[in-house]
Amino acid sequence: MDVPEVNQSWVEGWETGDIGFHRSGVHPVLKKHYEWLLAGRSPSKVFVPLCGKSVDMKWLYDQGHEIVGIEGAETAVQQFFDESKILFKISSIEDGLLKLYQSEDGRIRLYVGNYYNMPSTGESNFPAIWDRGSLEAIDIKEREKYVDVMTSLMSPGSRCLAEVVNRDDNRGPPFFITEEGMSNLFKGYSVKYLDKEEPVKGMPSFLKGFFLYSIERKE
Ligand SMILES: C[S@@+](CC[C@H](N)C(=O)[O-])C[C@H]1O[C@@H](n2cnc3c(N)ncnc32)[C@H](O)[C@@H]1O
Repeated sequence: MDVPEVNQSWVEGWETGDIGFHRSGVHPVLKKHYEWLLAGRSPSKVFVPLCGKSVDMKWLYDQGHEIVGIEGAETAVQQFFDESKILFKISSIEDGLLKLYQSEDGRIRLYVGNYYNMPSTGESNFPAIWDRGSLEAIDIKEREKYVDVMTSLMSPGSRCLAEVVNRDDNRGPPFFITEEGMSNLFKGYSVKYLDKEEPVKGMPSFLKGFFLYSIERKE
């Protein structure tokens, strides 16, 4: 696959602390739709694409699950482990494209590098995926590649919750994506609009809130 480059503005944002998307608390829609995502599997294995330093990963880890994330900015991954106070070790993936930060018990594995290199990790068969602010973060022209990688990590019965931004212009990131756009990207999957979040005080005026979709592989 032709691998698009990680947009360096993300990495610079992490280095200068310009990370307005980061939430200090566990995402309310994750808590609300957690039972659907897990589908009764506990413990499960949850993939968190473009994971940043999301505190949702620590929360899921504390529920007993295995967590696998990938993130282009190493600073984010270092901050995740430091702030969660989880001891970790670092290794390099064989082809040198990715670095792996993993908790001492191996139950959290965060890869540093380009999302499109995820297949080289050998990680697969995720029953659950939590995509918060990630599909909307990548360039519109890369969406199909993004979804190809994601669906290659799913198997029959896999479920994904994806939260995307609601905005009425075509600028980004974060980029707007319609319900029809979601269904077209995940052809053959069950894609449903599940929930929404209203804008909150202090949010940039272009943001009209968020939409949450459920995506499920049936066969
Ligand atoms: C909007 S943030 C969402 C972060 C996280 N999911 C959360 O909920 O806080 C998008 C993240 O994707 C990362 N990113 C962007 N493009 C990437 C790529 N091609 N590969 C890996 N990470 C990438 C950025 O560094 C940033 O941390």
